[in-house]
Amino acid sequence: MCGIFGIVTKDEQPLGPILIDAARRLTYRGYDSVGAATISGSKIDLRKDTGRVDDVAARYNFAEMTGQRGITQLRWATFGEPSQVNSQPHLDSDGDLVGAHNGNVVNNVELRQQFMAEGLTVRSQNDGESCVHAVERYINKGYDFIDAIRLAYGDLQGDYAFVIGRINDDKLYAIKKGSGLVVGIGGSFTCVSSDLPSILPLTREIMRIQDGEIITLWPDRVELRSVKDGSLISRNTETVTETMDAVQKGGYPHFMLKEIHEQPQVARELLHLLESNPDVQTMLEKMRTARQLYFVGCGTSYHACLAGAVFFAKIAGRAAIPVLAPQFVPQYAPAVNYEDVGLFVSQSGETKDVLNALQSGEEKGITSFGLANVIGSTLTKATSCTLPLCCGYEISVPATKTFTNQVVAFLYLAYRLAGRDTAELAVIPDLMEKTLEMVTPQVAAIAPAVNKWNDLYCLGYGATYAMALEGALKLKEITYAHCEGMLSTEFKHGPLSAVTKGFPILFAAGPLDVSLIVSGINEVTCRGARAIAIGEEDARLRANASDLIALPKSTPEIASLLAVLPLQLLSYQMSVMRGFDPDFPRNLSKTLTVD
Ligand code: G6P
Repeated sequence: MCGIFGIVTKDEQPLGPILIDAARRLTYRGYDSVGAATISGSKIDLRKDTGRVDDVAARYNFAEMTGQRGITQLRWATFGEPSQVNSQPHLDSDGDLVGAHNGNVVNNVELRQQFMAEGLTVRSQNDGESCVHAVERYINKGYDFIDAIRLAYGDLQGDYAFVIGRINDDKLYAIKKGSGLVVGIGGSFTCVSSDLPSILPLTREIMRIQDGEIITLWPDRVELRSVKDGSLISRNTETVTETMDAVQKGGYPHFMLKEIHEQPQVARELLHLLESNPDVQTMLEKMRTARQLYFVGCGTSYHACLAGAVFFAKIAGRAAIPVLAPQFVPQYAPAVNYEDVGLFVSQSGETKDVLNALQSGEEKGITSFGLANVIGSTLTKATSCTLPLCCGYEISVPATKTFTNQVVAFLYLAYRLAGRDTAELAVIPDLMEKTLEMVTPQVAAIAPAVNKWNDLYCLGYGATYAMALEGALKLKEITYAHCEGMLSTEFKHGPLSAVTKGFPILFAAGPLDVSLIVSGINEVTCRGARAIAIGEEDARLRANASDLIALPKSTPEIASLLAVLPLQLLSYQMSVMRGFDPDFPRNLSKTLTVD
């Protein structure tokens, strides 16, 4: 995710305190490292290291930094481990340019090789440095600055935004492609940032930047140009009136709702990143030939493992065993050996149960891979390679965007293993957007009635079984109601006795499982239950279920992923209706580092 901030003032002045404050306000976007650079005349002062803002700023005395322009960056590691050299901002080969980015440049590895072959000085593995060199290579060829940025834009694939400045100039330049970017206009300065929290303490006059726009910032004005043809774009400023708290939540009342709505974008970024990640091939080769393949996780991450096992079997014909991490230790670890592969899945990368399972497998020689959101976490260091989930910081305790990206990653791996065209998955982000739009009013319509109950069930089959378990976990976590997730066909083997008049049962129905789900629906509705189906528009579901939360049309695998979105929204809405804070449910912790 990462956060960037840049400021342009008229004369050289103390910029350190402004950069520290801006960095503090962007901490939620990443805290693997922090850096600051100031530029004045022919001088660049660059200070950066791993650690949190206050710690790094104190160690390197950011407060004393002065300049006419300044840049700060907060890093959420994806390319290159958290380290001083990978911290941002970065210099070009001669130290004339300085820049920083947020987002992911997915062809970073190839670009670095090109830059080195061209004789540029590449110091880190970080893709932010590639943004600087991508501009530098065209400056070296004699292009002017704006044209160099336009050409760099063509070379840098992925979703990102970056800000860059050079010596003997009085301006900063920024560009947006996929990641957020906002400009602030003050009385005697202009600034640019990934997000509003760092701008609003300085000015409330802002300008929102669109993809494919280059911004030039002077102390008293900004200029927007199209990256396509360099033409000028005119845009009015707007005045922000929201409070800081609302701004940090992106205008949403809670982080959970914000993160639910971030799912399409982070899925888009993940799909881009996976396309160019060399670790994917390494992992697939081992998985293909493994004697046994285990998907290991806890809580939400385990549910992603369940969906992953269905995708691997159905799409790639490769059996995988999904297992709760603590149970891996007695049930499988004693029987594994070097021929087996374990994919250890964890948002935080710090869950003790998962690390214990990993250790027990490694003691027997298993090949271990990771799927984690927090790069630099213990899991990422302990496995032979780990794919990043690219979700940025998930603040809300109930996992949402990290879950859907885990599922997207499994789907992607299954496609690659099967040799299927992963371009088919590019529809996922738009379908997620459409789903959120479609289901929000449908969920709001049923939530008050469901909310009257303190006992409910969430059922699914195949990949939607995983979604039913995940939906039930969300409901439990933040509404404090008892909600059991279950295989739909198991309901008749006992829980059926719980059914009374109006008893709510949610059925997540995959498009190929409708007949089976309809049987389950009738078994409960004939006993008075309210069966709420979640699935694509289908006459059979309409005729048999009490309610249908309709999803857009997609493929069976994508449909299962989409089915979790209304369940996230239902749990969120019920939690709010009950007067609870969905972001911070009682008794729970986002990262469980204990047995
Ligand atoms: C805790 C959290 C859950 C999470 C689980 C696994 O119990 O409250 O939301 O799913 O840990 O976390 P991980 O970071 O390993 O995915």
